[in-house]
Formats: sequence, structure tokens, C-alpha cells
Amino acid sequence: MAAELAAKGAAMHYLVYVSQAVKPMSVADLDAILAQSRANNPALGVTGLLLYRYSPDTDSGHFIQCLEGEETAVRTLYETIARDRRHHTKLVLDRGEAAARMFGDWAMGFKNIDDRALAAAPGFARIGEASFAPERFQQPHGKALELLKIFFDAP
Ligand SMILES: Cc1cc2nc3c(=O)[nH]c(=O)nc-3n(C[C@H](O)[C@H](O)[C@H](O)COP(=O)(O)O)c2cc1C
Repeated sequence: MAAELAAKGAAMHYLVYVSQAVKPMSVADLDAILAQSRANNPALGVTGLLLYRYSPDTDSGHFIQCLEGEETAVRTLYETIARDRRHHTKLVLDRGEAAARMFGDWAMGFKNIDDRALAAAPGFARIGEASFAPERFQQPHGKALELLKIFFDAP
């Protein structure tokens, strides 16, 4: 898929957002989101990574997602996701152009973030605090992606 887009000369656009789940997600809830993503994203030429963090202290769940692909496809898909009532308080942390896909192997990769992974990414360490303020996770341009990669690479 990445090779096809490169052949067409399409620029690779990415978008990273953070949001709060309306309720803690069960495995079945997460599976449903991933099934939709994996059914729809290949046709859109979109790949990416979805992170989910459940914070026991506040009994709340949060998402961080990166979408990457052709700009219109990413924008349109994000508009759909942003209307989804399974989460709220969404904030786009970063968007921009990338030379190549970072998550090209996944229609939508997924990782449930544990404490160890969170400790490795200080920029998101406070994600489960009682009053979720997404602007606290605003990062300098490019930094949100670095953090996503830290999460993904963490053991
Ligand atoms: C956190 C989160 C991430 C999502 N990511 C995607 C995605 O990458 N691709 C997708 O098609 N739908 C995603 N969805 C679901 C969409 O909001 C929407 O329900 C879905 O695209 C509708 O697809 P359908 O008409 O095939 O059922 C996501 C939903 C949530 C809550």
C-alpha cells in the first residue's frame, strides 16, 4: 500500500490526537473498534496506531491514535472518528507531512499501555488524572509521534 502511494507521488500526511473514552473499554469494546478500523482503513490507504490506557486511579480510559495516509483520507477519517460517541474531549496534538509511513504494517496497530510503557514516555505520564485536560499533552511539532513510537517499542 505504501509503495502504491509513493508511486502516485502522494504526500504522506499524519495526524495524532488524544481523547477520553466515555467509559472504561472492555476487550470486546476495543476489538470492535479495531475490527472497524481494519475493515475500513485499507480501502482508504490509511495506516496507523491506536493506544489505549486504562487508569485504575480514576477508572478512566484514554486513546492516543495516529492516522497516516493521503491528506484528504486522513482528514475525512478523523472527522468520522471525532463524531464517534465512544470517546470525547478529543484534541489533535500534531499533524504534518512525513517522508514515509511509520506504521505501514498495520491497517491499525494496537497497544494497551501499561505502567512501564507510560513511565517511558513522560509526556503522557499524567494521562489518567481526574480532570482530563488534553491540552496538557500538547507537544512540540513532531514530538507526539516520537512518544507514540516510545510506547510502541516499550517492552
Ligand atoms: C478511538 C477510536 C478510534 C477509531 N479508529 C478508527 C479507524 O482507524 N478507522 C475506522 O474506520 N474507524 C475507526 N473508529 C470507528 C469510527 O469512529 C466509526 O465508528 C467507523 O469508522 C464506522 O465504520 P462503519 O460504517 O464501517 O461501521 C474509531 C473509533 C474510536 C472510538
